[in-house]
Parts: sequence; structure tokens; C-alpha cells
Amino acid sequence: MSATRPARNRIAVMHGVNLDQLGRRPAGHYGTLTLMQLEARISEWAAGLGLNVQFFQTNHEGQFVEELHRLEDTVDGLILNPGAWTHYSWAIRDALEIAGLPSVEVHLSDVAAREEWRRTSVIRDLCVATVSGRGPEGYRDALAQLRAELARSSA
Ligand code: DQA
Repeated sequence: MSATRPARNRIAVMHGVNLDQLGRRPAGHYGTLTLMQLEARISEWAAGLGLNVQFFQTNHEGQFVEELHRLEDTVDGLILNPGAWTHYSWAIRDALEIAGLPSVEVHLSDVAAREEWRRTSVIRDLCVATVSGRGPEGYRDALAQLRAELARSSA
């Protein structure tokens, strides 16, 4: 990276529908952390990797879409767990394409090992990586993968 180019280390972490209910959802799939506790862990991991994170959660699809519209000039990369929207929201897929940011898809649970309908992701091909079934640690993996991607694309 050139000395004059600013570091590309600003990451948005976006959680979609029902992720605000972590801590009350089936622990076998989602663990026991609340969203606030999960975000605290993500912040620590991000700091260790030299990344700045900002968080967003909504249960309203249009708000998720509008947040994606706003991100382009404010962050360098994106980690998103849209919850159930992952499996069918073409509106979120289109908005992610508009955002045009390097993105990593994360799921706490192992979506490939659950119901058939969870195996579809309408965003997967827009993302540089998908992390699934690793619980909270999956976000650490996602941060590391995004950091590597940002370094690669800045080189
Ligand atoms: C989830 C998996 C989705 O199928 C589900 O609808 C969620 C959470 C996960 O993190 O494992 O709400 O994205």
C-alpha cells in the first residue's frame, strides 16, 4: 500500500431479522450470547486485527436495504448476517450489489446441516466468503478474511 493511501480498515457488521433476539433463540443453533455480548466480542477481535467496526441491526427489511445504500462511502468492507432474509430477500441481494463492497456472509449455525430452505443463500455469490456453523468465532474468521481481502485489493 502507498504511504499516502488511507488504511482500508472500516468494517460494517450488519445483523438482520431476529438477531436482536440472540440469547433467547435455540442455544443448540445460536449459542447463549446476546447480540450485545456478541458485538463486544467482535469489537475486541476487530481491534486485535487493526479494524474499526460499526454495528447495525434491524428487523425491518427496508431499513436493512437503506443502510446498505448508505454504506458505500463510509466503510471499506462488510460482514453481514441477514438471518432468514438470507434465504429469500432479492431486495437485500440487489442492495448488496449496489453497495459494491467486499463482503463476508456469516451464520452462527450450520445452515447447510439444517432445513432444506436454509441451504439457499441469495447473497452468497456476491460475497468473497461465507462462514457458517462456527458460532461467534465465525465473526473472527470473517474479520480475518475481510482484512486479507482488503489488503489484497489494495495492493
Ligand atoms: C442465521 C441462520 C438463518 O437460517 C436464520 O434464519 C437466522 C440466523 C444464523 O446466524 O445461523 O436467523 O443466519
